[in-house]
Amino acid sequence: MADIGTARIHGSVGDALAHDSARKHVTGEALYIDDLPEPARCLHLVAGGAARAHARVVEMDLAAVRKAPGVVCVLTAADIPGVNDISPIHAHDDPLLCAGEVMFWGQPLFCVAAETRAAAQAAVRLARTVYEDLPAILSIDAALAEKSYVLEDQRLTKGNAAAAIASAPRRLSGRFRHGGQDHFYLEGQVSLVVPSEDGDVHIFCSTQHPTEVQMNVAQVLDRPANAVTVEVRRMGGGFGGKESQATQWAALAALAALKTGRPAKFRLDRDDDMVMTGKRHDFIIDWQVGFDEDGRIQGIDFVQSARAGFSADLSGAIADRAMFHADNAYYFPHASILSHRCKTHTVSNTAFRGFGGPQGMLGIEEVIDAIARELGRDPLDIRQVNFYGTDERNMTPYHMTVEDNIIDELVRRLEESSNYRHRRLVIAAQNAASSIVKRGLALTPVKFGISFTTSFLNQAGALLHIYNDGSVHLNHGGTEMGQGLFQKVAQVVAAELQIDLDRIKISATHTGKVPNTSATAASSGSDMNGKAAQAAAIILKERLIDFAARHFNVPAADVAFLPNRIRAGAEEITFDALVKLAYLDRVSLSTTGFYKTPKIDYDRKTARGRPFYYFAYGAAVSEVAVDTLTGEYRVTRVDILHDVGRSLNPAIDLGQIEGGFIQGMGWLTSEELWWDEKGQLKTHAPSTYKIPTASDRPPDFRVQLQDFAENREDAIHRSKAVGEPPLMLAISVFRALSDAIASVADYRYLPELAAPATPERVLAAIDALRERDA
Ligand code: MTE
Ligand code: MOS
Repeated sequence: MADIGTARIHGSVGDALAHDSARKHVTGEALYIDDLPEPARCLHLVAGGAARAHARVVEMDLAAVRKAPGVVCVLTAADIPGVNDISPIHAHDDPLLCAGEVMFWGQPLFCVAAETRAAAQAAVRLARTVYEDLPAILSIDAALAEKSYVLEDQRLTKGNAAAAIASAPRRLSGRFRHGGQDHFYLEGQVSLVVPSEDGDVHIFCSTQHPTEVQMNVAQVLDRPANAVTVEVRRMGGGFGGKESQATQWAALAALAALKTGRPAKFRLDRDDDMVMTGKRHDFIIDWQVGFDEDGRIQGIDFVQSARAGFSADLSGAIADRAMFHADNAYYFPHASILSHRCKTHTVSNTAFRGFGGPQGMLGIEEVIDAIARELGRDPLDIRQVNFYGTDERNMTPYHMTVEDNIIDELVRRLEESSNYRHRRLVIAAQNAASSIVKRGLALTPVKFGISFTTSFLNQAGALLHIYNDGSVHLNHGGTEMGQGLFQKVAQVVAAELQIDLDRIKISATHTGKVPNTSATAASSGSDMNGKAAQAAAIILKERLIDFAARHFNVPAADVAFLPNRIRAGAEEITFDALVKLAYLDRVSLSTTGFYKTPKIDYDRKTARGRPFYYFAYGAAVSEVAVDTLTGEYRVTRVDILHDVGRSLNPAIDLGQIEGGFIQGMGWLTSEELWWDEKGQLKTHAPSTYKIPTASDRPPDFRVQLQDFAENREDAIHRSKAVGEPPLMLAISVFRALSDAIASVADYRYLPELAAPATPERVLAAIDALRERDA
């Protein structure tokens, strides 16, 4: 009984442990789907994409494709036994394969399954397709002009914004545009399907949403859900891109597997992945604001126009979240927020870290800077006078009361620790003295709502077994995409059972183990699966306490779980020994756990209620240096103070904050999506699409977790979700660039700068300001 006497278990809640797969990630031992040993006779799939943005397919001649070397089968819409729809919301607008009307350039028309991937790629090119061109709507502007929408408009209304703006001492208005973003997960979309008896399929899929893949594949195959099993050990990144858009490739591979009786793998190459899958929504945001001489907002009007692409996909919920974050951390006495979900003949946009929230926030941060320039004030002053209050000034445009606001205190601390006010003076002096390199500084806050805004999705399940040697098998509905969810949930179970973390086997997400799960999304993975796993652990713990009380003949109140052992009255016994005794006594050592998030209740019809359980807060100060001759720039220093409540694992949380920030910075600076006039995406490879690299990490990067407030709500161990909120801290980089540009005209005007702020755009904004000032 060597472990009797351990003071503390290893790997409890709050321990700053590395990701459970960290070593395997870097050594290459972590198995991604394409690393799994291929089953014998495995087929490889490649899709043939349309070469029009909007057209009718008059003729599709696949004879040469079918005859090409190595081709085993060719799939078209006619081969689908069930429903030709993979829409996540069952809108019947997301065909698995195009059935006549091409809706975007690259849309899969047919699919080849061949002996090798190279053979499939070569065969796809032999198709001869005749199109009849139809008019294509390729931009948000064109969609607005045509009133082309995938879903109905939505509106949030609080008070009377028009009247408040009209009667305010000062008014401003503007239009802000920002671009989308490709997920650029290192592992692209991939599924491996192994057919089994009775037409059943087992799918190894890189997806954030195993249940949705299961349900939609079943629908495509015209089979019940119990014929389809989906398994996900890990993704090489998802970032929202595998929330709904993993289904298509899984379903096509399943079709091929069933048709041929052979295993089938579909791994998109990078170019196909970028062309054929949806991205972050780009927006146009029209705004009007009324404010007083202190810069305090009295009324605000936003019209958010999001590019949904050709189908609804998750655009409804994403555009909703953009509306819910149009306020960011600021109180609006009167607000009107209108949202258009524009339908264009481009790929269907989808979830991307922040899920519309970042897009909504960009709008108000632009407005705040506009007010600051108008009043000749530091934008931070305007931010601070507009923050939500605690006892009053705390009602959102969707009529939820903000109860957990810590933004004032958090920003005050960051303002001090980053030396913001002093650096502002230094930079002003430097800029006055330097004609070419101009520096910029900005502090921006984040307040991000945690929960799925579709209330029923806020549920999770877990499955926990204790084997009779005392080792534990943990499973839950959450998926691992690098964010450290598995590690955090294992720490929760270790803490509950008081056993070392290495006794707990983290296992692949599996629809046969935990059914009817929600996507791992909305940053709520550890909140929900942590609670579900904890619930299961508590059930087993109670059974063991009950057994120990009987076995040692003591009251249950005298049984305690200590590190790796149990005390029953005066006796102590190891966890393993107790488990063995319980097994011999025929105690069930397996259970499920379930959790549903309390308190949330939002009514989309009235646009009122509580969509979020709580808010996560954060703030960042970014400093940049801009070369005004070329528009090139560097981010020289970043200070972040971020709120994760009481951290489940500070090492993983810091990683999420750094990674999220850099990803957000990429979105707002170098990652530019560009379609030509025919609607063909030209930036479909890293040669033309620039994600941040290691050298873009700010040389001075100071990231801290706030340590003065835990989660007020009863979230798992009083922690807060961390996955998405830090991405929005990068808005500070964009505002710092705007600040540096504004300096060329003495900070009197708001630069006209769209995102991403590429060097070209920065240079154009500088030139425009200089002309205006001349
Ligand atoms: N971190 C890594 N390394 N890889 C990812 O794909 N996805 C992000 C975020 N952090 C992602 C990530 C997104 S979009 C979400 S919603 C959350 O992780 C999901 O996981 P969680 O709910 O467990 O935080
Ligand atoms: Mo994250 S965009 O909610 O998958």
